[in-house]
Amino acid sequence: MPSRHPEFGNVKVFDHPLIVHKLTQMRDRDTPHATFRQLLNEIAGLMTYEVCRDLETEEVVVETPVARARGARLREKVTLVPVLRAGIGMCDGILSLFPEARVGHIGIYRDESTAKPVEYYRKLPHDIAKGPVFVVDPMLATGGSAAKAIADLRDAGCSRIQMICLVAAPEGVRRLLAADKDVIVNTAALDERLNERSFIVPGLGDAGDRIFGTA
Ligand code: PRP
Repeated sequence: MPSRHPEFGNVKVFDHPLIVHKLTQMRDRDTPHATFRQLLNEIAGLMTYEVCRDLETEEVVVETPVARARGARLREKVTLVPVLRAGIGMCDGILSLFPEARVGHIGIYRDESTAKPVEYYRKLPHDIAKGPVFVVDPMLATGGSAAKAIADLRDAGCSRIQMICLVAAPEGVRRLLAADKDVIVNTAALDERLNERSFIVPGLGDAGDRIFGTA
């Protein structure tokens, strides 16, 4: 089970040894982008397994080759919303164990001169508000991109939103929770701080560039 952060009640830190082991390899600047991407997908899958624990199920009955069996199936449609572009780097890992999830997309980049979010794309399922939504983005730095994406989803009527990220900064968590007190933030690590360029310290650099080899 992830641990609830003592300062931020809405933050769950996934400090499982296997996740910490993989994340440490990702932080290493010498890790090549193919390995980085693979590890990111693996961690995303591991986190999603736990994030899905609270999903509602409904009872179903199936006929096994031997007898009738009572079981359960997920009751609602779940939507992943990766924040482009780095969020895409987590989707394969999540979909490999949860292929029924739908995928909406929100494109936001952070203007590096102002550190402000700029939205450039949005495509969501029309009935997204009926089910839980997992916003997926490896980095929560100033929190501007996540706050913008989540505000868009609230405007679309979504009431149950969880964020799945890899590394978060306390400054970004504070800002996001000030903007939206109901969102749950699942993160593999809560790092020390932001630096003067609003990069997470120690962080892992620019996740998008490291996923796609564009550094
Ligand atoms: C990164 C990251 C987040 C955002 C975090 O994306 O993937 O979306 O920055 O920063 P914030 O919390 O200060 O908003 P980036 O802007 O580098 O775009 P990219 O995913 O296209 O590389």
